[in-house]
Amino acid sequence: MTEATVQYAPPPELARHAHVSGRAAYDQLVARAETDPEGYWGGLARELISWQTPFTQVLDSSQAPFFKWFADGTLNVSYNCLDRNVERGLGAKTALVFEADDGQVTRVSYQELLERTCRIANGLRSLGVKKGDRVVIYISMSIDGVAAMQACARIGAIHSVVFGGFSAQALRDRIADTGASIVITADQQVRGGKQLPLKAIVDEAIGLGGCESVRNVLVARRTGGAVPFQAPRDLWLAELTEGQPSKCEPEWVEAEHPLFLLYTSGSTGKPKGVQHSTGGYLLQAAVTTKWTFDLKDDDVFWCTADIGWVTGHSYIAYGPLALGATEIVFEGVPTYPDAGRFWKMVQDHKVSIFYTAPTAIRSLIKAAEANEAVHPARYDLSSLRILGSVGEPINPAAWEWYHQHVGGGRCPIVDTFWQTETGGHMITPLPGATTLVPGSCTLPFPGIAAAIVDETGNDVPHGHGGILVVKRPWPGMIRTIWGDPERFVKSYYPPELKGFYLAGDGAIRDAQTGYFTITGRIDDVLNVSGHRMGTMEIESALVAKTDLVAEAAVVGRPDDTTGEAVCAFVVLKRPRPHGEEAKQIAKELRDWVAKEIGPIAKPKDIRFGDNLPKTRSGKIMRRLLRSIAKGEAITQDTSTLENPAILEQLAQSN
Ligand code: PRX
Repeated sequence: MTEATVQYAPPPELARHAHVSGRAAYDQLVARAETDPEGYWGGLARELISWQTPFTQVLDSSQAPFFKWFADGTLNVSYNCLDRNVERGLGAKTALVFEADDGQVTRVSYQELLERTCRIANGLRSLGVKKGDRVVIYISMSIDGVAAMQACARIGAIHSVVFGGFSAQALRDRIADTGASIVITADQQVRGGKQLPLKAIVDEAIGLGGCESVRNVLVARRTGGAVPFQAPRDLWLAELTEGQPSKCEPEWVEAEHPLFLLYTSGSTGKPKGVQHSTGGYLLQAAVTTKWTFDLKDDDVFWCTADIGWVTGHSYIAYGPLALGATEIVFEGVPTYPDAGRFWKMVQDHKVSIFYTAPTAIRSLIKAAEANEAVHPARYDLSSLRILGSVGEPINPAAWEWYHQHVGGGRCPIVDTFWQTETGGHMITPLPGATTLVPGSCTLPFPGIAAAIVDETGNDVPHGHGGILVVKRPWPGMIRTIWGDPERFVKSYYPPELKGFYLAGDGAIRDAQTGYFTITGRIDDVLNVSGHRMGTMEIESALVAKTDLVAEAAVVGRPDDTTGEAVCAFVVLKRPRPHGEEAKQIAKELRDWVAKEIGPIAKPKDIRFGDNLPKTRSGKIMRRLLRSIAKGEAITQDTSTLENPAILEQLAQSN
């Protein structure tokens, strides 16, 4: 960072009233958390969460890295998010403002959400679902989606939400890995004016085999479109819940009881079931929602993520509700009916806190530049006070546009760095305390011991890039990988890192300010439009097309809109295709990947070669493929390459 770097101090009025008010207040929290982490987190856990049985121990490190937080305390997440708010007099307050794809708005009060949740919870119990059973939720953004998550939490069932854009194969893998007894879905989903299947995909997934654990499929009616129905396995959600009582005694669970599993991509082919806890997770979601967004009682909060991703868990399903907030739940897409949709919704609902992904911002910048009618300047965005960014690095140009044109130059932008595994924000500005620098996620959330180290776990000086780690456990951290504790240890606590959590990202700290900038993944994970994908996962999908593909290697390359784009290098079991034939096979492979994983994983570029660049020992040299994908000249050392001529062929095969 040079002296010329633009910096934005917290707006004084906002800072004065903020939960964390001023840099000194932030520094004090950091110091307190450092000298007495257990006192700090324990205090917050008592302040923000209602416990059925109070905990007596904050952190149990005896089986590190399987850390336990608040282990002898009991609680219920749904009680904390719903009943408690009703008991505080917020029963009539709007919890959810649901806006459908077609613009229709439904408001749900805390009392109504509680009753709806209880009916689903009772319905699940009537089907024999008990504490610890797994429930897969495959549904689009909806009131039922949020209520279904809360209902699972209410009875101690462990939910695993699968993003509605995932294919039957991906859904099958997740159902099979969790051993779920129930799948909750909808007849169809509606996005951008189109009706898309959900229930039919569930049937296809179950039909693939390995899902014998599933006893019932509960179907919410969204479009009323005709769907296959298999009695007695399939039940309409409305019919199941209609006759159920609107009260349901919460299952009080231990703080370490798993709240949910969420699958995410790692460096190997198989997605990992990240297991989150009840007490520590809820604390992380609640305290970060409160401080990072400076959430107040009269705010209207809108996180545009989908409940199929962790952002939709922590900042739609749990954090805002734990604090009694009013939030928007949006079914549609930012570009329908036009690219002014987000801005119109901010205007219509007087949204005060808006949290979205850089990829959305970048595509809306393009749209606004092409069509003045959808420029944010055409809308009244004066209700906004805080903006957020999540999921991938936000480039300074997009940051400045967001700040100026959406935030009117007056709203701080919180660039929140975190991961599915971390449960909540890890490195982020606090709007009333942190001076902002576009492109930097600034400083750790108080209590998060983020640091940058070398391969042996030693600190690297500021100004030097290194590996991002977290030196101390934190309440919202991943507890294990479902069914694979060894992989948990191997992935996140490798022995050479001295017991620090390995995030999988590279980072650098500014020499003067100590601010963090994330430099990107250091493993084989890509980030396309804020969606995390493993290159190995896409490679496995490609080579699964056994009639056509002999070998495949996948790398990322920078992309102006999506951040990164997927590039596949493919060797076919037939001679290398050219011209029209190559185009046609590339299309076939893209459709295949969409079917195996989901449309989000489709390679943007597919290049065919007679071979792949390999070392003499047969290892694919991905760094060379990355250069080719970027269109760069190869400057790296290629002396270990067995077949150098292949580079020229692949470079020209685009
Ligand atoms: O590479 C980092 C990037 O997204 C990864 C986590 O992806 P996922 O588990 O899907 O969670 C996304 C939503 C929290 C990280 O390892 N990432 C996330 N937020 C940022 C980011 N990179 C830079 N800046 C961010 N604010």
